[in-house]
Amino acid sequence: MGWAIGAAARHAATALLGENVVRPPTESGHAALDEDEYLVLALDRERQLTSLPAHALEMLISCGAYGEILLRALAAQGWKADRVRFVNPAPAGQALGDDSADRIFGDRWPHAWAPVCVVRLRHVHADSEDLVELRETARARHTNRGPYRPESIDPAVLTELSTPRSGLSLFQAAPGRDPKVTVRHVVADAERAEVADLVSRHGGRDFSHLLAWQETHSFIRRSEADAEARGDGFTLGQLFGPLAPPRQYGMRIALAPATMRLLRHVGYHRVLARQLAAMVRSSPAAVALCFADEAPSIESIVCGGAAMADYWLAATRAGLVLHPVSVILQHDDVRDELEKRLGLPGRAFFVSRLGCALTAFPPSHRLATSRTLRLV
Ligand SMILES: Cc1cc2nc3c(=O)[nH]c(=O)nc-3n(C[C@H](O)[C@H](O)[C@H](O)COP(=O)(O)O)c2cc1C
Repeated sequence: MGWAIGAAARHAATALLGENVVRPPTESGHAALDEDEYLVLALDRERQLTSLPAHALEMLISCGAYGEILLRALAAQGWKADRVRFVNPAPAGQALGDDSADRIFGDRWPHAWAPVCVVRLRHVHADSEDLVELRETARARHTNRGPYRPESIDPAVLTELSTPRSGLSLFQAAPGRDPKVTVRHVVADAERAEVADLVSRHGGRDFSHLLAWQETHSFIRRSEADAEARGDGFTLGQLFGPLAPPRQYGMRIALAPATMRLLRHVGYHRVLARQLAAMVRSSPAAVALCFADEAPSIESIVCGGAAMADYWLAATRAGLVLHPVSVILQHDDVRDELEKRLGLPGRAFFVSRLGCALTAFPPSHRLATSRTLRLV
């Protein structure tokens, strides 16, 4: 996220938002409390996944989720997003730093960042939700890849979570536009079996796709200390839950791209897919989020990510945990089959296991704020 405090960045932000009057920054650099602030949500091209075409959509979903949580936290402190303008980010794989559109935000703009949208914030002296409660929920929200309690989830909770969502903060900033996301829970045994069957048959694709696996594997860290030092990525504990040291050692060898290259010939990727399918089958529910549009605009995609974060926070508040199973969305043939089998209302962009955790999962590492929020 870029926080526009310099003259060039504020000028570019106001121009993109169609404002005529540019107020000069104050001596301290940024606006006084009665002035507007401008944030630029951006995609970090150095850290994005690019090995599958579907990753382009996933990265924007992820940006939208980040934007939602940040904007909600600001709204809880009286800073409301009241205008937004989406910008098409440079295509994945484009050589870094050669897009002059990125330079409009001035010299401090990180060369690897592709702007996604510009947001105006206005101080309104009214808080939308309790900041402490939001912080606690955001901290409690972790992807939980372990087994879930087998008991059914209270239908009243699922009904509450089923309301169409639009990602509150970004949506508020774009009145008149309504890229609502449909929430569909998959609860019946037969339907969960359909999802598990797709995972079992196709879930090995990522493991057997050399480039995709190499890229995913580059985010697996050797230890807590390694993840802590780099500030991102996953330890084996975050991916598989607590493992005894000999099992950790075995998994490390089995997951290495060189081993995977060999083991896929004896169907190891299918074994991993069947393990994931068994987890899906034994979870009490799954959830699918869908766009109405088969070819969503950048605005719909980013708002979809915001809606996903909104859903995930609400589920966390209800005591539920999630574990996305994106492999059945990443290939159009499989996604089509999923949508048909479940009769989904539109294009599915997020599918996840849903349930009550049996074991707590550790939080994943995050980059320091100084690397994710830049003054430009
Ligand atoms: C759109 C999207 C799809 C994802 N798909 C998967 C997935 O299929 N499998 C998985 O293990 N993690 C997946 N993740 C990553 C995790 O859910 C999670 O965001 C990441 O591991 C960070 O951990 P945290 O949720 O505990 O903060 C996905 C994330 C996003 C945003």
